[in-house]
Amino acid sequence: MDKKFYVTTPIYYVNDIPHIGHTCTTVVADILARYHKLLGEEVFFLTGTDEHGAKVAEAAAKEGLTPQEFTDRVSKTFSDIWPKLNIGNDYFIRTTNPGHEKIVQDLLEIIYKKGDIYKAKYEGYYCIGCEKFVTETDLVNNRCPYHPNKEVVKQSEDNYFFRLSKYVPILIRAIEDKNDPHHYEILPEGKKSEVLARLKTGVNDTSISRAEVSWGIPVPWDKSQTIYVWIDALINYYSALKINHQESFWPADIHLLGKEILWFHAVIWEALLISAGIPLPKKVFAHGFYTIDGQKMSKSLGNVISPKELLEKFGVDGARYLISTSFPALEDSDIGWNKFTEKYNADLANGLGNLVARIAKLCEKANTPFSSKSSLHFTKKVEEGIKDVRLDKALDSIWSSINDENKRINQERPWELEGEKLENFLIKSAQTIRQIAFDLQPFLPQTAEKILEQFKGPKIKSAPPLFPRI
Ligand code: MSP
Repeated sequence: MDKKFYVTTPIYYVNDIPHIGHTCTTVVADILARYHKLLGEEVFFLTGTDEHGAKVAEAAAKEGLTPQEFTDRVSKTFSDIWPKLNIGNDYFIRTTNPGHEKIVQDLLEIIYKKGDIYKAKYEGYYCIGCEKFVTETDLVNNRCPYHPNKEVVKQSEDNYFFRLSKYVPILIRAIEDKNDPHHYEILPEGKKSEVLARLKTGVNDTSISRAEVSWGIPVPWDKSQTIYVWIDALINYYSALKINHQESFWPADIHLLGKEILWFHAVIWEALLISAGIPLPKKVFAHGFYTIDGQKMSKSLGNVISPKELLEKFGVDGARYLISTSFPALEDSDIGWNKFTEKYNADLANGLGNLVARIAKLCEKANTPFSSKSSLHFTKKVEEGIKDVRLDKALDSIWSSINDENKRINQERPWELEGEKLENFLIKSAQTIRQIAFDLQPFLPQTAEKILEQFKGPKIKSAPPLFPRI
C-alpha cells in the first residue's frame, strides 16, 4: 500500500480577513504537503474556515448581514488567496457545510451515549474574542488579557459538559509513553512540557454547548442549545475526510497550528476522539507568533501585513521564501517590510537569482554541452529540516550551497577560463544549481521548475532574472 500523509492547518475564523499569520501556517503546511507528494506519497492537505459562534455572528451583525451571507463573503477571501500563493490544498472545508454539521452531530451523539456528556450549570465568564470560557483568575482589570478592548460576558446557563477530567490520566500516558496505544507527539518539546504540566495540575470538565448562541450547530438531543464553536471546529479534521470519502487518510500525520490554540488541539481534541473510539492524530505542532517591528500585529496598530500586499511586492515565491525563512517554529519571530526587502534582495535577487543568471549566461556563451541525466534526491539537511518543521534550517542549508557556489565563481573567475577548464567548471556549477533547484521544489515551486527546465540540457540558455531587485 502507498504511504499516506495527511496535514492540516487551523480553520480560520471569518471575522477577520487573511493576514500573514494565517498565511505562514498555510504556507508551511503546503511545503510539507509538496515534499511528501514529491516523495511519491499519497497526500491530503486540508485548510478551511471556522464559521460559527458568537464572534462571527457579532461581526456579521456589524456589517448588517446574516451570518451566512457574511461567512460566504469572508470565507471566499481565504479560498481565493491561497491559489495565488500556490497553495495546493486538496480540500477547503467550511464548517457551515451541511455534511460537516451532520458528522459533528453524529460524533457528539456517540460521546453522549457513552455517558461522557452531562448537563450542569455553567457560571463564569466568556471571552468572545477568544471564543473561550475564562476563569476569574485569567482576567486582568476584569478583562481578558488578549482582548482588553472587549468586555467579557458573565454567563450563567445550563450547558452540556464533556468529562474531560476522566481522560486526563489517559492523555498523560498517551503523551509520555511512546508504546501507549494512544501515543501522540506534541512539538516542540517545550510546548509538550507545558501541556503535561497543566494536565498534571488537574483539569475540570469542559462545557461543549451554549444556550445563548444561536449561530451554531444544534445539539442533536436538545435543540435549545448549540454546540460550542471549538468542538464543532476541531471535528473538521475528521469530517473533511468523510465528506471526501477519504477516510483512509485518518489519523492525521500532523496538525499545524499556533501556540495559542494548542490546548484545544493537544488535549480536548484527543479526549473527544478517545471517547468516540477514533484513533488519535500522530503529531501536533504548535508554532510561535509573528510580531511586526517589535509589536504585536493588530488592526488597531494598523501594522497588519496581508498576503495580498506580500504578493504584490515580492511575488509568489518571494512571499513563500520570506515566510518560510521567518517562520516562528520555536520562538516568536519579528518581521517587517524593511527586513523582508533586505532579505529578498540579499538572498533571492543577489544570492539565488544572480547565481542562476551568471552560470546560464556563461553556459550560453561557451555553448557548453550539458547532460542532466543523473537523478536527484533531496539532500539530508533539507529532509531533516522538513521532518522537524524547521524550514529555516532546511533553507539555511540550501543557501549555504548557493553562497558557496557564488564564492567559488568569484574565486575561480570562469570568465577568464577557456576550453576544457571552462567546460568542467560550468558543468559542475550547473549540477550544483540543479540540486539546489530540486531541493527548492517544495518551498519555491515555480522558481524550482523554471530552473530545472532551464538547466535540463543539452544546451543551457540565459533567461530573464528570477527575482528583480527591489
Ligand atoms: N478558528 C480557530 C481555529 C480552529 S482550528 C480547529 C482560530 N482561528 S484564527 O483565525 O484565529 O487563526 C489562528 C491561527 O492563525 C493561529 O493558530 C496561527 O496558525 C495563525 N496565526 C494568527 N496570528 C498569527 C501570528 N501573528 N503569527 C503566526 N501565526 C498566527 O484560532
